Amino acid sequence: MSYAIVGFGKIGQALAHAFARKNIDVTVASRRPPEELAPLARAIGPAVIAKSLEDALKADTIILAVPFGEHREVAKAQSSWKGKTVIDAMNALVSPEEMGGLLSSAFVAKSFSGAKLVKGFNHLPAATLATDPIVEGGHRVVFLSSDVEEAIAPVADLAKNLGFAPVKLGKLNEGGALMHARDRIWGPLIFQDLFRKEQ
Ligand SMILES: NC(=O)c1ccc[n+]([C@@H]2O[C@H](COP(=O)([O-])OP(=O)(O)OC[C@H]3O[C@@H](n4cnc5c(N)ncnc54)[C@H](OP(=O)(O)O)[C@@H]3O)[C@@H](O)[C@H]2O)c1
Repeated sequence: MSYAIVGFGKIGQALAHAFARKNIDVTVASRRPPEELAPLARAIGPAVIAKSLEDALKADTIILAVPFGEHREVAKAQSSWKGKTVIDAMNALVSPEEMGGLLSSAFVAKSFSGAKLVKGFNHLPAATLATDPIVEGGHRVVFLSSDVEEAIAPVADLAKNLGFAPVKLGKLNEGGALMHARDRIWGPLIFQDLFRKEQ
């Protein structure tokens, strides 16, 4: 598995710290050239490599950590998303009407046709997500949901390898609705900083 984080702001950097902590290679990219991101990537750890957006999108699994409205631009940067896993770490504080009545991740999935979209790593403030997820033997919970059932397990494995305790919520409009923001209202699981003793 190869991993990329698109968007190297607060959430992208928080996740890069998680990869660096476990020495799992990850590419990071934004609209800026890789030379501009490289010093910060290097400072986070040697496993974090800045690349161009085009090169980063060659990874099997891509974490979207861009402002919600930018997801379409990222989607356009590649002609086919077939076979890719896209992890949506974004929160959209716009109304369901603006998204055709869909939850935000279902709306995002429409732009990444052919990809397996999993929502995850979106429910905590970046500063919390950046810290070590293993505290006193407990593992910080991350929630995962997807309409593509088989896509959740590999993302759950990644979350475990990063030290988190994944909790699978099922489909986006079922359990996944609990981790979505809509109409400027946060889903009830957003901001819940929970720990599980056993992975
Ligand atoms: N901040 C939080 O605590 C938090 C918590 C949970 C979820 N989230 C979600 O995470 C996402 C990112 O939030 P953030 O706070 O990390 O934002 P941020 O600090 O503003 O970072 C956004 C990053 O996206 C990059 N970017 C913007 N447009 C892009 C494009 N078209 N292609 C590639 N890269 C692009 C920006 O870099 P360039 O300008 O160099 O392109 C920047 O690195 C949002 O959807 C937010 O809802 C944030």
